Amino acid sequence: MWRVGILTASTKGARGEREDDSGAVIRELVARIDGRVVCYEVLPDDLDRIRETLIRFADVEKLDLVLTTGGTGVGPYDVTPEATRAVIEREIPGIPEAMRITTLEKTRFAMLSRALAGTRGTTLIINLPGSPKGVRECLEAVIDVIPHALELMKGLTGDHGHAR
Ligand code: MTE
Repeated sequence: MWRVGILTASTKGARGEREDDSGAVIRELVARIDGRVVCYEVLPDDLDRIRETLIRFADVEKLDLVLTTGGTGVGPYDVTPEATRAVIEREIPGIPEAMRITTLEKTRFAMLSRALAGTRGTTLIINLPGSPKGVRECLEAVIDVIPHALELMKGLTGDHGHAR
Protein backbone atom coordinates (compact mmCIF):
# COMPACT_ATOMS: atom_id res chain seq x y z
CA MET A 1 0.00 0.00 0.00
CA TRP A 2 1.34 3.47 -0.97
CA ARG A 3 0.51 6.44 1.24
CA VAL A 4 -0.83 9.22 -0.95
CA GLY A 5 -1.55 12.91 -0.35
CA ILE A 6 -3.83 15.12 -2.42
CA LEU A 7 -3.34 18.87 -2.54
CA THR A 8 -6.11 20.66 -4.38
CA ALA A 9 -5.20 24.23 -5.33
CA SER A 10 -8.49 25.98 -5.88
CA THR A 11 -9.38 29.37 -4.49
CA LYS A 12 -13.09 28.60 -4.97
CA GLY A 13 -12.71 25.13 -3.49
CA ALA A 14 -10.95 26.49 -0.42
CA ARG A 15 -13.87 28.90 0.10
CA GLY A 16 -16.30 25.98 -0.10
CA GLU A 17 -17.77 27.30 -3.36
CA ARG A 18 -16.81 24.25 -5.44
CA GLU A 19 -16.96 20.47 -4.93
CA ASP A 20 -13.55 18.85 -5.30
CA ASP A 21 -14.44 16.43 -8.09
CA SER A 22 -10.78 16.28 -9.17
CA GLY A 23 -9.75 15.00 -5.75
CA ALA A 24 -12.36 12.24 -6.12
CA VAL A 25 -10.90 11.21 -9.49
CA ILE A 26 -7.43 10.99 -7.95
CA ARG A 27 -8.73 8.73 -5.16
CA GLU A 28 -10.31 6.42 -7.72
CA LEU A 29 -7.21 6.18 -9.91
CA VAL A 30 -4.60 5.70 -7.17
CA ALA A 31 -6.61 2.75 -5.87
CA ARG A 32 -5.44 0.97 -9.06
CA ILE A 33 -1.84 1.00 -7.80
CA ASP A 34 -2.82 0.17 -4.21
CA GLY A 35 -2.55 3.81 -3.18
CA ARG A 36 -4.53 5.05 -0.20
CA VAL A 37 -5.19 8.74 0.36
CA VAL A 38 -4.11 9.55 3.91
CA CYS A 39 -3.63 13.34 3.63
CA TYR A 40 -5.89 15.79 1.87
CA GLU A 41 -5.85 19.59 1.71
CA VAL A 42 -7.84 22.09 -0.34
CA LEU A 43 -5.94 25.39 -0.46
CA PRO A 44 -6.32 28.71 -2.26
CA ASP A 45 -3.82 29.55 -5.01
CA ASP A 46 -1.27 30.83 -2.49
CA LEU A 47 2.36 30.01 -3.21
CA ASP A 48 3.55 30.01 0.42
CA ARG A 49 0.71 27.82 1.68
CA ILE A 50 1.09 25.32 -1.14
CA ARG A 51 4.86 25.18 -0.60
CA GLU A 52 4.53 24.69 3.17
CA THR A 53 1.94 21.94 2.71
CA LEU A 54 4.12 20.10 0.17
CA ILE A 55 7.03 20.27 2.64
CA ARG A 56 4.85 18.90 5.46
CA PHE A 57 3.51 16.09 3.26
CA ALA A 58 7.08 15.09 2.36
CA ASP A 59 9.15 15.77 5.48
CA VAL A 60 6.67 15.23 8.32
CA GLU A 61 4.03 12.87 6.91
CA LYS A 62 6.64 11.12 4.75
CA LEU A 63 4.07 10.29 2.08
CA ASP A 64 5.09 8.11 -0.84
CA LEU A 65 3.19 10.10 -3.45
CA VAL A 66 1.73 13.63 -3.51
CA LEU A 67 -0.61 14.58 -6.33
CA THR A 68 -1.58 18.21 -6.72
CA THR A 69 -4.49 19.34 -8.85
CA GLY A 70 -5.03 22.84 -10.21
CA GLY A 71 -3.10 26.03 -10.60
CA THR A 72 -0.79 24.73 -13.33
CA GLY A 73 -1.99 26.99 -16.14
CA VAL A 74 -1.13 30.48 -17.22
CA GLY A 75 -3.82 32.36 -15.32
CA PRO A 76 -2.71 35.23 -13.09
CA TYR A 77 -3.20 33.18 -9.89
CA ASP A 78 -1.68 29.89 -11.08
CA VAL A 79 1.31 29.21 -8.80
CA THR A 80 1.36 25.45 -8.21
CA PRO A 81 4.43 24.81 -10.44
CA GLU A 82 6.35 27.62 -8.70
CA ALA A 83 5.54 26.15 -5.27
CA THR A 84 6.55 22.70 -6.51
CA ARG A 85 9.78 23.96 -8.07
CA ALA A 86 10.69 25.50 -4.69
CA VAL A 87 10.46 22.16 -2.83
CA ILE A 88 11.60 19.42 -5.19
CA GLU A 89 15.21 18.27 -5.04
CA ARG A 90 15.26 16.32 -8.31
CA GLU A 91 12.97 17.12 -11.20
CA ILE A 92 11.54 14.29 -13.34
CA PRO A 93 10.63 16.08 -16.58
CA GLY A 94 9.56 12.87 -18.31
CA ILE A 95 6.41 12.49 -16.22
CA PRO A 96 4.71 15.77 -17.26
CA GLU A 97 6.19 15.37 -20.75
CA ALA A 98 4.40 12.01 -21.03
CA MET A 99 1.18 13.54 -19.72
CA ARG A 100 1.28 16.32 -22.29
CA ILE A 101 2.36 14.18 -25.27
CA THR A 102 -0.15 11.42 -24.54
CA THR A 103 -3.12 13.74 -24.05
CA LEU A 104 -2.40 16.41 -26.65
CA GLU A 105 -4.44 14.61 -29.31
CA LYS A 106 -7.50 14.67 -27.09
CA THR A 107 -7.03 18.22 -25.82
CA ARG A 108 -4.98 20.85 -27.57
CA PHE A 109 -5.08 22.82 -24.31
CA ALA A 110 -2.80 20.16 -22.77
CA MET A 111 0.12 22.31 -23.91
CA LEU A 112 -1.01 25.06 -21.56
CA SER A 113 -0.38 23.10 -18.37
CA ARG A 114 2.99 23.94 -16.78
CA ALA A 115 2.81 20.84 -14.55
CA LEU A 116 6.07 19.59 -12.98
CA ALA A 117 7.10 16.38 -11.21
CA GLY A 118 9.99 15.66 -8.92
CA THR A 119 11.22 14.10 -5.72
CA ARG A 120 11.79 15.44 -2.25
CA GLY A 121 13.40 12.84 -0.02
CA THR A 122 11.46 9.66 -0.74
CA THR A 123 8.29 11.51 -1.75
CA LEU A 124 7.26 11.77 -5.40
CA ILE A 125 5.34 14.97 -6.18
CA ILE A 126 3.34 15.28 -9.41
CA ASN A 127 1.27 18.27 -10.58
CA LEU A 128 -1.97 17.62 -12.43
CA PRO A 129 -4.30 20.14 -14.09
CA GLY A 130 -7.39 21.33 -12.28
CA SER A 131 -10.33 19.87 -14.19
CA PRO A 132 -11.57 16.34 -13.38
CA LYS A 133 -11.16 15.50 -17.08
CA GLY A 134 -7.57 16.78 -17.09
CA VAL A 135 -6.77 14.85 -13.91
CA ARG A 136 -8.13 11.62 -15.36
CA GLU A 137 -6.39 11.96 -18.72
CA CYS A 138 -3.03 12.98 -17.26
CA LEU A 139 -2.93 10.52 -14.37
CA GLU A 140 -4.04 7.64 -16.60
CA ALA A 141 -1.11 8.50 -18.91
CA VAL A 142 1.53 7.87 -16.21
CA ILE A 143 0.01 5.85 -13.38
CA ASP A 144 1.39 2.48 -14.51
CA VAL A 145 4.96 3.77 -14.11
CA ILE A 146 4.50 5.31 -10.65
CA PRO A 147 5.00 2.12 -8.57
CA HIS A 148 8.34 1.44 -10.28
CA ALA A 149 9.42 5.06 -9.67
CA LEU A 150 8.53 4.76 -5.97
CA GLU A 151 10.39 1.48 -5.62
CA LEU A 152 13.49 2.94 -7.28
CA MET A 153 13.37 6.04 -5.06
CA LYS A 154 13.28 3.87 -1.96
CA GLY A 155 16.05 1.60 -3.19
CA LEU A 156 13.62 -1.33 -3.12
CA THR A 157 14.61 -2.39 -6.61
CA GLY A 158 17.56 -1.82 -8.88
CA ASP A 159 15.89 -3.72 -11.64
CA HIS A 160 14.36 -2.16 -14.69
CA GLY A 161 10.90 -3.69 -14.51
CA HIS A 162 8.77 -4.34 -17.54
CA ALA A 163 6.23 -1.52 -17.46
CA ARG A 164 5.61 -1.58 -21.18
N1 MTE B 1 -4.62 18.23 -20.01
C1 MTE B 1 -5.48 17.26 -20.28
N2 MTE B 1 -4.99 16.06 -20.53
N3 MTE B 1 -6.82 17.45 -20.31
C2 MTE B 1 -7.35 18.69 -20.08
O1 MTE B 1 -8.59 18.82 -20.11
N4 MTE B 1 -6.87 21.06 -19.53
C3 MTE B 1 -5.92 22.10 -19.93
C4 MTE B 1 -4.51 21.84 -19.48
N5 MTE B 1 -4.18 20.44 -19.49
C5 MTE B 1 -6.45 19.76 -19.77
C6 MTE B 1 -5.07 19.48 -19.75
C7 MTE B 1 -6.30 23.44 -19.57
S1 MTE B 1 -7.75 24.01 -20.25
C8 MTE B 1 -5.51 24.26 -18.79
S2 MTE B 1 -5.93 25.90 -18.58
C9 MTE B 1 -4.29 23.76 -18.19
O2 MTE B 1 -4.25 22.35 -18.19
C10 MTE B 1 -4.03 24.23 -16.77
O3 MTE B 1 -5.09 23.89 -15.93
P1 MTE B 1 -5.04 24.31 -14.38
O4 MTE B 1 -4.63 25.77 -14.32
O5 MTE B 1 -6.43 24.08 -13.87
O6 MTE B 1 -4.04 23.45 -13.68
